[in-house]
Amino acid sequence: MISTEALTRGYDDGARGKVRVLDGVGLQIAAGEFVAIVGRSGSGKSTLLHVLGGLDSGFVGEVTVAGTKLAGLSDRALAKFRNESVGFVFQSFHLIQGLSALENVSLPAAFSASEGEAARAKEALARVGLGEKTSRLPSQLSGGERQRVAIARSLFNRPKVLLCDEPTGNLDVQTADEVIALFNSLNAEGLTILAVTHEERLRSAASRVLTLIDGRLV
Ligand SMILES: Nc1ncnc2c1ncn2[C@@H]1O[C@H](COP(=O)(O)OP(=O)(O)O)[C@@H](O)[C@H]1O
Ligand SMILES: [Mg+2]
Repeated sequence: MISTEALTRGYDDGARGKVRVLDGVGLQIAAGEFVAIVGRSGSGKSTLLHVLGGLDSGFVGEVTVAGTKLAGLSDRALAKFRNESVGFVFQSFHLIQGLSALENVSLPAAFSASEGEAARAKEALARVGLGEKTSRLPSQLSGGERQRVAIARSLFNRPKVLLCDEPTGNLDVQTADEVIALFNSLNAEGLTILAVTHEERLRSAASRVLTLIDGRLV
């Protein structure tokens, strides 16, 4: 489902010169796996997720996600790939404050409108246990509930892979456990999940744990 070979991402960092944030990463993740990648702050975790999710095309090497080779794709092709193949979950939820839970979840439809979107968004919210709170604004939801709305949004287009960047980083222990239980049940249904994290709870929920040190996978 995810394959990288000699994946390198460098930046020209002014006085420091060229910095290699990812340095020859080789990663193989099969369909249906739940993999955690751990590493210290600055080790390249977010950069790796951005490359795998088609948000950053400035890399060198081979990257294939859900059957799509990402190197050299046009912006348009990358947008299509993001829309059809991957879901993102971020530490800080990234919900739009003025929109209800339902509107946040069906937001992806605003860019490719089709029938039955509200029903599909409701279904996604029910899936994360928020079927009764679809009209709440983010400010009327707890942190754990906000993250579950964000997970529902990530599921809206039925992605093949879920990419999660410190998804429990802003949650207390109990709500983090709820979110982790949700990842486990989504994974049990066959969704491939890759999460980068500091958190022991999340790494012990994963079926495989990899470590990133200074842009190298060990
Ligand atoms: N646009 C950029 N330009 C220069 N350096 C960057 C840029 N984005 C990230 N970096 C550097 O890449 C390194 C890894 O960043 P990141 O992937 O965010 O790490 P992590 O998510 O593991 O904390 C950091 O040292 C960061 O400063
Ligand atoms: Mg990060």
